[in-house]
Parts: sequence; C-alpha cells; structure tokens
Amino acid sequence: MKTSVATAYSTGTRLFHACLALAVISQLISSQFMQVPREGRSGNWVFEVHEYSGLFAGVMALGLWLVIITRIGGTDIGRLLPWFSADRRAAFWADTKAHWTIVRAFHLPQYRQASPFAAAIHGLGLLLITAMAATGTLYWLGNIAGSQDGLVIWLAINLHGLMANLVWAYLIGHAGMALIHHFTGGQSLRVMWATSPTTSSKEPSK
Ligand code: HEM
Ligand code: HEM
Repeated sequence: MKTSVATAYSTGTRLFHACLALAVISQLISSQFMQVPREGRSGNWVFEVHEYSGLFAGVMALGLWLVIITRIGGTDIGRLLPWFSADRRAAFWADTKAHWTIVRAFHLPQYRQASPFAAAIHGLGLLLITAMAATGTLYWLGNIAGSQDGLVIWLAINLHGLMANLVWAYLIGHAGMALIHHFTGGQSLRVMWATSPTTSSKEPSK
C-alpha cells in the first residue's frame, strides 16, 4: 500500500520552479534556431519567442526569489547563498570535499536534502538565470530606447552569450542529478514537480 507523503516544497516554490525551468528550456532550444537582428538583417519569429519567454523567465526568477525570501518552510536562503557566513562557507567546503572524494572513487553521492553543496549550487544556478534574464532585458530595453550600439548594451549581450554556456552546464548537471536521484530511489522528482501538496511517492518500508 502507498502512503501519502507531504512534499518538502511549498506550492509557490513548485509553481515558480516549474515555470522557470520550462522557460529556460525554451530559451536554450530557441537559441539554437533564432536569427538575431543584426546589420540591417531582421530577426525571425524564433527570436521573438526567445525575447518574450526570456522576459517571462525573468519574472519567474524574481518570483522564486520572493518566495524563497518570504516562505516559512523550505531551504533557508542562507543555505542557497552561504557566501556571507564563515560557518556556512566552512560547511559548503567540507561537503564539496566529501562529494569530490566520493566522485573520485567513481561512486555516486547519495541524496541528502540538507547537503550544503547541493543547496549552494541551486543558489548559484538561480543567480545565473537571474543574470541571464537581466542582461537580455537590458539589451531589449536598449533596443526600445534606440541605444543598441552603446557600450553597456554591448557588454550586457556579450556577457549573456558567455553565461549561456554555464546555463547549459547547470541544466544538464542539475536535471541530470535530479533524474539520477529519482531512479536510484534517493529523491522522487514529484517532490518538486507534483501538482498537489501531497504525493504518493513512497512505499512504506515493511
Ligand atoms: C534551469 C532551470 C532550473 C533552475 C534555475 C532550477 C532551480 C532550482 C532551485 C533554485 C532549486 C532549490 C529550491 C529550494 O531549495 O528551495 C531546485 C530544486 C530542484 N530542482 Fe530545479 N531548477 C531548474 C530545472 C530543473 C529541472 C529541469 C528539473 C527536473 C528534471 C529540476 C528538478 C529539481 C528537483 C527534483 C529539485 C529538488 C532537489 C532537492 O530536493 O534537493 N529542476 N531547482
Ligand atoms: C533566463 C533567460 C535567458 C536565457 C537562459 C537565455 C539564453 C540564451 C542563449 C543560450 C543564447 C545563445 C548564446 C550563444 O550561443 O552565443 C542567447 C542569446 C541571445 N539572447 Fe537570450 N536568454 C535569456 C533571456 C533573454 C532575454 C530576456 C532577451 C531579450 C529580451 C534575450 C536576448 C538574446 C539575444 C539578443 C541573444 C543573441 C546574442 C548574440 O549572439 O548577439 N535573452 N540567450
């Protein structure tokens, strides 16, 4: 018989996470097919999709930050951003070393919800996506204002292109680990992707 297991994440966290993840996936896919307007050449419709779903991703990233800051349960913001506390930094480095030792021995790290390493990577991922949306939006606003040739806009869009590589790495690493933990019994994907607050994801141990 299956039991009903409460998800560790609030509805707000799961909703904004899902919208953000889907928007980022659509950004990465559209980036492969879009034609950027340049030197008299106009952009194609895929570029428009990239622009508007990027603006949407920005709103979802801000929404997720707002939920993280204001929610009562869930991962503490200090664990997502451990860089401002000596104790949290020490815990992060200790956990990073522990992960490295396990990986070096060709084993998979076991899932731990309280892992300082995993939480810090999630925080960096969210910061990265926020920076992608901010640089893209700056480019978009620059175009509206007619100052697309300005240095700030040039810097923003070049930074956008450089950070894009990290977004691929984050999505592959993060979604890959989520899938591995799901199929090796560490953590069900439903904990973050369930549409209801409770989910029947675990068989009770006999
Ligand atoms: C680039 C898009 C994504 C971003 C920015 C992102 C960001 C995050 C963040 C910030 C957290 C931590 C939430 C918290 O502790 O409050 C998280 C957790 C999680 N994400 Fe994502 N995510 C993305 C895509 C995905 C995808 C595609 C999957 C599924 C394949 C996924 C599965 C999960 C799961 C299962 C957790 C919970 C992990 C745990 O319990 O430790 N995420 N994600
Ligand atoms: C989370 C949000 C976003 C993600 C993950 C994302 C992702 C990407 C990726 C992967 C590329 C291709 C980079 C390359 O191969 O060189 C790209 C390029 C681009 N993106 Fe975004 N993007 C986001 C938001 C936006 C927004 C909001 C806008 C504008 C409204 C925008 C405008 C552009 C432009 C103009 C380029 C072409 C840059 C160039 O090569 O000159 N992006 N983006």
